[in-house]
Amino acid sequence: MISLSDLEKQALALLPKAHADYFIGGSEREVTANANLQSFDGLQLWPRVLRGNFEGDLNIDLLGSQLDYPILAAPTAFHKLAHPEGELATARAIARCNSLMIVSMASNTAIETITEAAYEINPRAGIWLQIYIQPDRDFTRRLIRRAEKSDCKGLVVTVDSPVFGVRERDIRNNFSELPEGLYCANMKDQDGIFRDIAFDSGLNWDDIVWLRDNTQLPIILKGILHPEDIRLAIQHNLQSVMISNHGGRQLDGVPATIHVLPLLAQAADGRIPLLVDGGIRSGSDVLKALALGANAVAIGRPVIWGLAVDGEQGVQTVFQHLHKQLLSSIRLCGCRNRDDINSGLIFTPQQPRG
Ligand SMILES: Cc1cc2nc3c(=O)[nH]c(=O)nc-3n(C[C@H](O)[C@H](O)[C@H](O)COP(=O)(O)O)c2cc1C
Repeated sequence: MISLSDLEKQALALLPKAHADYFIGGSEREVTANANLQSFDGLQLWPRVLRGNFEGDLNIDLLGSQLDYPILAAPTAFHKLAHPEGELATARAIARCNSLMIVSMASNTAIETITEAAYEINPRAGIWLQIYIQPDRDFTRRLIRRAEKSDCKGLVVTVDSPVFGVRERDIRNNFSELPEGLYCANMKDQDGIFRDIAFDSGLNWDDIVWLRDNTQLPIILKGILHPEDIRLAIQHNLQSVMISNHGGRQLDGVPATIHVLPLLAQAADGRIPLLVDGGIRSGSDVLKALALGANAVAIGRPVIWGLAVDGEQGVQTVFQHLHKQLLSSIRLCGCRNRDDINSGLIFTPQQPRG
């Protein structure tokens, strides 16, 4: 594979149109989904030369998970629409790469089966579970217990979805049901019934406190775009936040994540690790995010493209490709060590004096 955009084209050609549209689409006019991509292109790296080798490594300890490099798989639903092995293929690839997978609440494979497959390959693999807090708190509590019992290392709570974003492509394609035989495996209740995921529009900080008091797992809030919300997350003793606009699939017209990252990094002031996702498609995009204050980045759609084209091997290729490109960008920027990866790497044009 030469580039992720080649892979995307291949995947889109392989998938049925309704599924391709589901994976690639954003909400409403897709302004934010496009802005996520364009905003990276609008930022420029500012290299130094003749500074010798990069003497560091890219290892990161993310809330107890040891990763070889700061790139993780964002939670994405329905991997079996992309490949028959679904989340198992993704998890195995992640385990082989010493990376971390955030399993979607809407996965087609149960969390226990996913962790088992990943840990069989690599007991140190990072697996977190993403949830939407359900109005039925008993159901939510049982799912958290399942995550704990299967040795998940973190709980990602998505908070940008009080209601479901309006996805015009899905409406046009009449895509509202999974094909026969596929389920949201984590949504099986005590009576053996697969429930629909409910979005709770009344969700507030008291619910996050409830969650925090009901689990030992580190909690990562996903879907933060405002510095005040970072301050509140820290005040509520949460372990991390993911700066995310859901890949432009929830509220359309919000800023690209890379644009709000510097303000949010300022608000966090190094007190918690910051994750960011949305539009990361190359090693230089990863470097831009790290330079602007992210501790790690997550990728959503590129994982799906790898999965659709070549299953487990395809996902592994995506991670290896980004890792290699990241190292190359770091060297091309003249970084000598991790400390050189800072906001000085981003070129800011001088305002003309007048
Ligand atoms: C097909 C698809 C399904 C997604 N499903 C979920 C989900 O179940 N839970 C969630 O919190 N985010 C979900 N997301 C959002 C991703 O976690 C992530 O924020 C986004 O994909 C990052 O942008 P990128 O795709 O440009 O890398 C989904 C995104 C896509 C593209």
